[in-house]
Formats: sequence, structure tokens, C-alpha cells
Amino acid sequence: MEFPERFSNLPEYAFPRLRLLLDQYPAGKQVLNMSVGDPKHHFPKWVKEVLEKNIHEFRQYPPNDGSPELLKAISRWIKRRYGVLVDNTTEIMALNGTREGLFAALQALCPENKFGDRSIVLMPNPFYQVYAVASLAANVSPIYLTAMKSNKFLPDFSSVPEELLTKTAVIYICSPSNPQGSVASESYWQNLLILAEKFNFRVFADECYSEIYREEPPVGILEVANKIGTNPENVVSFHSLSKRSNMAGLRSGFVASGKNNISAIKKLRAYAGAPLPLPLQRVAEKLWDDEDHVEISRNLYKEKFILADTIFSNVESYSSPEAGFFLWLEVENDEKAAKKLWIEAGIKVLPGSYLSRDTKSGNPGKKYIRVALVEPIEEVAHGLKMIRKIIYN
Ligand SMILES: Cc1ncc(COP(=O)(O)O)c(C=O)c1O
Repeated sequence: MEFPERFSNLPEYAFPRLRLLLDQYPAGKQVLNMSVGDPKHHFPKWVKEVLEKNIHEFRQYPPNDGSPELLKAISRWIKRRYGVLVDNTTEIMALNGTREGLFAALQALCPENKFGDRSIVLMPNPFYQVYAVASLAANVSPIYLTAMKSNKFLPDFSSVPEELLTKTAVIYICSPSNPQGSVASESYWQNLLILAEKFNFRVFADECYSEIYREEPPVGILEVANKIGTNPENVVSFHSLSKRSNMAGLRSGFVASGKNNISAIKKLRAYAGAPLPLPLQRVAEKLWDDEDHVEISRNLYKEKFILADTIFSNVESYSSPEAGFFLWLEVENDEKAAKKLWIEAGIKVLPGSYLSRDTKSGNPGKKYIRVALVEPIEEVAHGLKMIRKIIYN
């Protein structure tokens, strides 16, 4: 298969690569899949009733921008969560999950050129892969900034040369981050937003793990921007029900930003987007209004993290994530470790390099595996004990 030139260097997606790596070997024991971030906790039982009540609405084309009721529920949630007032008619748009939004928003908002040069899109390395593909589709240049352990696994934007920032049109940043579970602090956001205004770029904040935290709710870009008075057009925040509400299959999220940005995203999506079916928008509306199910799920993740901290307590390289539901474990070689876990124990984890790009100083994921804590706690306990035994003995 021949891709157009701009996609020609695209590596195979992480999960087909993993199949290629492991499928040639039989699983050593009963399979435990810890490779995918597919939430497994329950969603509320009442979802079924809401769906049934509104099922007749499958008949009609859904409103492209999101139903007024859904947009109002989202703006109530933003107010509750971040203390920020967002206009539901002009400053939010409903998405089919954050993945398509992270892609579509870049097409709508990223200029091809800045000061006569091709625009640059900065992103962390490792990263959620759609950031790179969106950049290639928009015909701009992705640049990968290594998210080092010494910098809490967040890219250090203060070390990016001014020359590069001048050409930067968008920065993707994920907090809490996938895969490391790092949380951008208030001062981190603040410094980034100051740079955004100074160099006139937009910050695309992927905050889809914002509700899965240990103790304190992660500070969000919307609240920091509001506090320091950043121009809302420099701030584009993405949220999702996939992780928050254990409904990855619902495909529902939103983007919040300034009026001009949202209007541009709406315009492009009116041509090319696939709006969320209305009965599903009704479900999404109720989910944003409910925090009980989110708290139950968060507490289950907390238990799993306590367990992980205990199991890896005497592994020197272990760092306990602040949020999200992954462990990012240091190993000697990511593919070798993944293969060993599969062959000896039937445990499937993701090699870190499948989430990262090569750089001059190597691939920052090569010495890591990503382990998802999504299965029931008994299975997670078994998986983590086996990882401890097989990798760190
Ligand atoms: C960092 C990150 N961003 C975005 C997404 C996309 O999530 P969704 O499209 O389900 O909202 C994921 C999914 O795994 C993710 O890990």
C-alpha cells in the first residue's frame, strides 16, 4: 500500500506492531492484556434507560455542534470542575471523543506557514499518536520534544530555542500524560501560556485523563488561563468521557476554546465531521452532570496504584504516577521485556518505543514498557507480581 508522501514515514500503529511482535509466540499462561488503555470499570446502570428513552432520535441527523442540552451540561461541568464560565453556545463544541477532535482542530486552526516558513507543531515524545498524524495531514512539521524523567516526564519548553518557538503554531501537551501519568502544575501551565502569547501559538491541551487522579484534582489549562487572563484563542482544551466515565465506546468528548477557534472548528466539522448520534449525546449530557460514578471508578484506580506502589516499592527505578491509569516502567529493552512477559506469563504490555519517535539521542521509550491498570484488581495484582518477578528479579 502506497501512502501519499506526507504519510510515507508513518510507522505502523502501536497495536498492530505489538501483534507482529508477539503473535508468533504462544502465550506462556492465560492471557492478561495490560497493553491497551481500554477502561473496564462499570458505567452507570441508568445509561441504558437514557438510551432507550431517546432511541427514536437515531432517526434524525444529529446537531453538528452538539445539542444545546449537552453543551449546557458540559459548561456546568467546566464551572464545577475548574470554576470557569464558558459560553455553551460559542466556546464549546461536542466531539466524537478527543481523538477526532485533536485531529480536526489542528486542520481547522493551524496555519500552513508562519513568517514565510512551514509551521511547526511541538509535541511531547512519547505521545498520543494522533498529534503527529494531524500535523502531517495539515502539512506542517511535527517536532518531538523528549519528555525526560528529570523533568517529571513533561517537555521542557523553556529550553526550546526562540527561533523554533517563533515558527511554532501549535503545541500539543497531555496532562495527566499518557503514558507516564505526569500532571502539569499551575506554574508549568502558566509558563507555557506566557510563551503562547509571546510567540503567538495555540496550546492544545489533551486533558482526557483529568478525572483519574490520586489525591488532588489536576489543575486544568482553562482555570490557569482564566486566572492569569490569557487570550482564550491561545487555549484549546480537550476532554472526554472515555476514561472519566468508562465509556470509550460512546465516543464522546468536547473541545473548549475562544469563540473564533470554536467557530472555525465548527465550520470545518460541518463539512467533514461525523457528529455524535443524538441518543448518545443524551447519554453524554447525563454523564457530565453526574460525579458519583466518576468517584467510584477513581477510587478503584487508587486501590490499584496503592497495590502497584507496594509491589514495586523496592524497585529503584519505579516512579508512582500522579494520575491516569498506566504504569511507565523502566526496563533494559522494551521489546525484549514485552516478549519475555508474553512468553513466560501470557502478559501483554506495550513497548515504550511504540509510543515514541527516534531522536538523535535514541528513542525515549526504548527503556520503558507501558502497563495499563484497567482489569479487575485481582488480575492487576497477578500481572504486577509477575512483572516484578520476571523483569526485576
Ligand atoms: C492521551 C490520549 N488522548 C486522547 C485519547 C483519545 O481518547 P478518546 O478519543 O476516546 O476521547 C486517548 C485514548 O487512549 C489518549 O490516551
